[in-house]
Formats: sequence, C-alpha cells, structure tokens
Amino acid sequence: MKKSIQFIFILCVWSCGQEIEKPTTFKPKVPSYFGGILPEPSYNKTTLEGIALGKKLFFDPITSSNNLVSCASCHHQNLAFSDDGKKISNAGVSGKNLHRNTPPLFNLAWQTGYFWDGGAKDLESQVFAPLQHPDEHNQDLKALIVKLQNHAEYPKLFAKVFNNEPISSQNISYAFAQYERSLVSYKSIYDNFLQKKDSTIFTSTQKKGLLVFELHCEKCHKYPFLTDFLYHNNGIDTTFTDESDERVFMGRFRITNDSADLGKYKTPSLRNILLTAPYMHDGRFATLDDVFLHYTNQIKVSKTLDENLKTKITLSEVDKIALKAFFETLTDYEFIKNPTYSIEK
Ligand code: HEC
Ligand code: HEC
Repeated sequence: MKKSIQFIFILCVWSCGQEIEKPTTFKPKVPSYFGGILPEPSYNKTTLEGIALGKKLFFDPITSSNNLVSCASCHHQNLAFSDDGKKISNAGVSGKNLHRNTPPLFNLAWQTGYFWDGGAKDLESQVFAPLQHPDEHNQDLKALIVKLQNHAEYPKLFAKVFNNEPISSQNISYAFAQYERSLVSYKSIYDNFLQKKDSTIFTSTQKKGLLVFELHCEKCHKYPFLTDFLYHNNGIDTTFTDESDERVFMGRFRITNDSADLGKYKTPSLRNILLTAPYMHDGRFATLDDVFLHYTNQIKVSKTLDENLKTKITLSEVDKIALKAFFETLTDYEFIKNPTYSIEK
C-alpha cells in the first residue's frame, strides 16, 4: 500500500516536473473602511510571487543604466517611501535636480491618477516614467530585459509569476505594480480609532486636533485615506504661466489642457505626514508650522483657488499644537518596518 502511493507520487513528480507551478493567489487584508478588498486590475492580479518579484526589482539598482539607482534611492522605506528630507531629489543617474518632491508610496491601489498632476492612469504605466527618465533610472527597456535575462535569479522568478512567458517590459511593469499595490498602510493610532470608533484612544489634545482638522482640512484630506484623490489649487501660487519643462509647473493643466485646472495638484494623503517633510509638490515648506502659516495667512488668490480656501482660516496656537498632536496619530510604524503586512495570513 505504502509503496504504491510512493510510486504514484514519483510518477507525478516525474511527469509533471516540466510544468511551471502556478503563483499563489491570495486576498490581502484590507480594513472594511477601505472597502474591504484591494482594488486590482483583472489583467494583473497580485500574487505572492509577483509581489516578491516586484519588491526585488524595486530595491535593485540593476534597473538603472549605471546599475547604481533603484526606486529606493528616492523612495525610502523608513520614511513611508518618501524622500530623505529633500525638497527635490537629485539621486537619479544624471545627478540633476528633478522638478517635484518625491511623494510617499502607500495605499496606491485606491488612486486613480499617479504623479502630482495625475499624469499616469495606472501603476502599470507609471513605472515606465522613472525607469526611462534621464534624471531617474535612465534605463533603456530593451537593455533592461537583456540584463534581467542574463541574471542568475530573475528568469526563474519571472517564469513562475508570468506563466513561463519571456521577460518583457510589460511583465516588468506588472511586477512593479503588484508590489506597489501591496503597500497598504492601516495600522496607525488613527486606524485604531476608525476601527473601534472609540475616541478614548486619543489624548485630549489629539481629540481637539481631530476636531480642528475636521473643521478646516477634512474637506480635501478626506477620511479614511486622508485625501479625496482629487486635484485642487490650495493657494500656494498666484500665476501658472511658466511653460518650461513640459509644463510641470502648471499643475493638472499639463494633463487636461483645461484652464480650470491651472495650479491644481493632487491632494496628498496626510497619513504618515510626520515622515514625509518637506511639503507640497515642490517641497517648498520645510515644516508643519510653515504649512499652517500658509493656510492661515498666505493663501494666494487666483482664478482657480479652491472655494473652501476663500474664507480665511484662523488657527490659534492651541489649535496648531492640537493639530500636530493629531498628526502624530497618523504615523504607521508597523508599515515602515514591514510595508507588505497586508499580505500576511
Ligand atoms: C530620482 C528619484 C526617483 C526615483 C529613482 C524614482 N522615483 Fe518615483 N517619484 C519621484 C518623484 C520626484 C515623483 C513625483 C513626480 C511628479 O509628480 O511629477 C515620483 C512619483 C512616483 C509615484 C507616484 C505616486 C503618487 O502618489 O502619485 C510612484 C508610484 C513612483 N514614483 C514609483 C516609483 C518606482 C516604481 C520607481 C522605480 C522604478 C521610482 N518611483 C523611482 C522620484 C523618484
Ligand atoms: C481645498 C482643498 C484643501 C484643503 C481645505 C486643505 N488642503 Fe492641504 N493640500 C491640498 C492640496 C491640493 C495639496 C497639495 C498642493 C501642492 O502640492 O501644490 C495640499 C497639501 C497639504 C500638505 C502637504 C502634504 C505633503 O505631503 O506634501 C499638508 C501638510 C496639508 N495640505 C495640510 C492641510 C491642513 C493642515 C489643512 C487645514 C488647515 C489643509 N491642508 C486644508 C488641498 C487642501
């Protein structure tokens, strides 16, 4: 009896050995107030092996023309994948300054536009920008495929994730996207509050901060992601006429060509905000005090200024201290230790 089972087992290993094992599909853990499921496109469902491959690529400088720059050169895990306190990064292959501040990377699966102006519609296409940009990875895609094909580990990993297909720029982008989608952040003190609906979790100063926040800021930095994922002019500039550098200084207008979108940028999430200074699309504000000063005293009026910022916001010193205390509850320390905790059983 035992022997025949062994025999069948050996037979199967022998005859099935040539086939590639299927990657492991799974459902990541996502809180109910995020909708309970991870949004993902039907053509690129996340698998455990796909995430692992995307992670390896994300941290691997093989993805740049000089083999020195990886995504992590600018997106630092310990800072929720934002940049190292730099206004503008120059960590790419050319060493030249980019034009915008490096945003953090989390809860990306729920976004419908990537970059400060929403210039990329999905993560699968977004990644080609940093890979090919001369001031980022400066990487020719065909040359990247050759490097990966000649690598000791990548061919096997790609084969398993992508059903034995050859390594292609599409598969590369799909792997990056799977890893990025799995970066879900929902373990801050604020999340404890959302889960239990119990404000005793907060100190009295934090509770006051939440009220100030709801009154002045939550309209755009919306519950539960602390962004509405939309584009607004929050009054940091008066004119948007600089057409240089492919119009990156004109906001969402660069994408839509609609003058109503001049100076509008995507509302950034305020989750992990203490880790992501400096602030705004060009990193112009070094501290939260600079940000508060902006919203209370420096709003610049222009045609596209958001309605919600047309009435003056007043914040007392106590309000500012309370807001900062509330912002402390938005840091997800678990996430920076283990950014893919949502995929754990
Ligand atoms: C040299 C620095 C640098 C490198 C290297 C880099 N990025 Fe970025 N990343 C940025 C900057 C700056 C932006 C914002 C650009 C903009 O909005 O115009 C950005 C934006 C993004 C966004 C959009 C986030 C959002 O909320 O809209 C994603 C996603 C992203 N990067 C992923 C990657 C991946 C994946 C890699 C590696 C293939 C990478 N980045 C490499 C600097 C960098
Ligand atoms: C009308 C919508 C709106 C309101 C109201 C609003 N914000 Fe913003 N906020 C934005 C937009 C849009 C940006 C990005 C602007 C840019 O980069 O050019 C932003 C950026 C920020 C940033 C920078 C985040 C980063 O990662 O760089 C902080 C901090 C911030 N807001 C805090 C606040 C606070 C505090 C309040 C309330 C006092 C507030 N916001 C009210 C729309 C709004």
